Amino acid sequence: MFDRRLFDLPKIKGTLFILMILTGIQALAIVAQSIFLAAVIVDLWSRHAFATVLPSLAGFALAFMLRQLLVVFKNTLMSHFAGKAVENFRVQLLEKYAAMGAPLITKYGTGHAVTSLVAGLDNTKNYFQLLLIKMFDLSIIPWIVLIAITYFNWIQGLFLLLIFPVIIIFFIILGLAAQKKADDEYANFKNLNNRFVDGLRGLPTLKQLGLANAYGREIYTISEDYRKTTMRTLRIAITSTFALDFFTTLSIAVLAVFLGLDLLNGKTILFPALSILVLAPEYFLPLRNFADDYHATLDGKNALTDVMAVLNRPEPTDTKLLNLDTWRSDSQLTLKDLDFYYEDEDQPTLADISFQVAGYQRVAIVGESGSGKSTLLNLLAGFLMPNDDEVIAVNQEILPHLDQEDWQKQYFYMPQSPYLFHDTLRNNLVFYTPGVDDDVLKEAIQQAGLKDLVDSLPDGLDTVVGEGGRQLSGGQSQRVALARMLLDPSRRVLLFDEPTAHLDIETELDLKKSMAPVFDQHLVFFATHRLHWLNQMDYVLVLRHGHLVEQGKPAELLAKPDSQLNSLRSELQQGLIHE
Ligand SMILES: Nc1ncnc2c1ncn2[C@@H]1O[C@H](COP(=O)(O)OP(=O)(O)O)[C@@H](O)[C@H]1O
Ligand SMILES: [Mg+2]
Repeated sequence: MFDRRLFDLPKIKGTLFILMILTGIQALAIVAQSIFLAAVIVDLWSRHAFATVLPSLAGFALAFMLRQLLVVFKNTLMSHFAGKAVENFRVQLLEKYAAMGAPLITKYGTGHAVTSLVAGLDNTKNYFQLLLIKMFDLSIIPWIVLIAITYFNWIQGLFLLLIFPVIIIFFIILGLAAQKKADDEYANFKNLNNRFVDGLRGLPTLKQLGLANAYGREIYTISEDYRKTTMRTLRIAITSTFALDFFTTLSIAVLAVFLGLDLLNGKTILFPALSILVLAPEYFLPLRNFADDYHATLDGKNALTDVMAVLNRPEPTDTKLLNLDTWRSDSQLTLKDLDFYYEDEDQPTLADISFQVAGYQRVAIVGESGSGKSTLLNLLAGFLMPNDDEVIAVNQEILPHLDQEDWQKQYFYMPQSPYLFHDTLRNNLVFYTPGVDDDVLKEAIQQAGLKDLVDSLPDGLDTVVGEGGRQLSGGQSQRVALARMLLDPSRRVLLFDEPTAHLDIETELDLKKSMAPVFDQHLVFFATHRLHWLNQMDYVLVLRHGHLVEQGKPAELLAKPDSQLNSLRSELQQGLIHE
């Protein structure tokens, strides 16, 4: 029930020590409050003068106030502590996302990232704060109260002691059932978030395809699912609260009956009996509070698990192995017998990939959809790690992976849809090269074929683009990315992942005219299934189901009728395989 991970939080030990002391004092205050109250009632019952009751009354008031004040102190202490711990996690998470970047987001989804950073961490804070307070209440207060009760009447004390484990077992059984439901609920919640973010992003596409309503219904179904799982969790939570309240109240009633009988038989007098009766609910109260909040904190527990899963993902160490100033005409990159498995997959996505490229070669990576082109590019970009060591070498320097600082300074990566930040067009263009000369910028805009666009915008380069700004077409976004490349001639390696896949053929051919000159004096990896790009390339890697089935000069391979490249080409033309 107690989460061991809590002990790893910074400064937890000191905080818990203070919490323990405060809870101990609170327990004593509760005992004092009850005994003073019993004394006041007994005195009034015996018709003593009101003045003789005053000291007990003052004692009661003091103890009562102390007890309530301690609740406030404890909450403030733990809220402060939990807030700090969670802020710490938030920073760590952001750093982790920044450090690991694309692979992490790809694995868990954007919605998931947002959920854990916002709602997830808020739940975690609740969890730290509530759970720790209630845990300490539960482990200290009932026992001090019990000692007081036993002091008055050991048989009653024994009865309460024996009833406690029975109630706890009951609670654990219901708690386990609720845990399962809460897990489902949280999984649904994350699913809902990912689908929602997806839906927002894909809204234009969905609209075009006339699928927006269907997707809307799907979101509705998922949120209904979420509602139902939430209600199921609540149902169990409420049932278990009810059961717990019922049993504790019943126990107190039984106790009261026995106390009444003892009083009637003259075995006891009013003061101890009344003290026990007032103390008994206090004995059960921490357990009831714990149970109430236990269900509420399950969300936080799950969120913490998620946060820890992301934080504990190993970050690549050895990112400074490579020593490379610039990629030169005589530089070499070698892959030897590279295998790659995605997590949880038993089939390799890439198997036995070996090739060597040198200098400013232009390398096409071709293959049908799903053949592993993007995976290979991600390995080349250092986003993914090969499964074995010593399969990659740059200039004969053997490297475990390409997540190397010196390598990352060499390349540009152009995805299918380059990301435009919500910022001016100018700032988007000079993203990698802030402070670049206006003349140079103009030249790059000209070369990337963006001049017409810039001229047509009322605010020119100061137009805000990206999400919420002026929308650029797919081809225009590619041109922005191209201009970014042109502005930074120091990066000599270009990685393209099907940059034209979603463009119509006219736009693509138009873009090709601007793009081809950029390839000069660069090492280029260009993943595509549009084989007309082969004219621009001087080497080709043919992938099929993750195997490198052929490599060589495009012209030579195309001249061989039985080459893999030719069979890929005819299969693509006949529509036998997917683009
Ligand atoms: N994150 C991932 N986890 C598991 N499998 C993946 C992941 N990404 C891609 N794959 C699988 O790996 C194979 C190669 O995918 P990919 O490299 O994207 O191919 P391509 O870019 O050639 O279309 C496919 O079967 C795909 O389903
Ligand atoms: Mg791909």
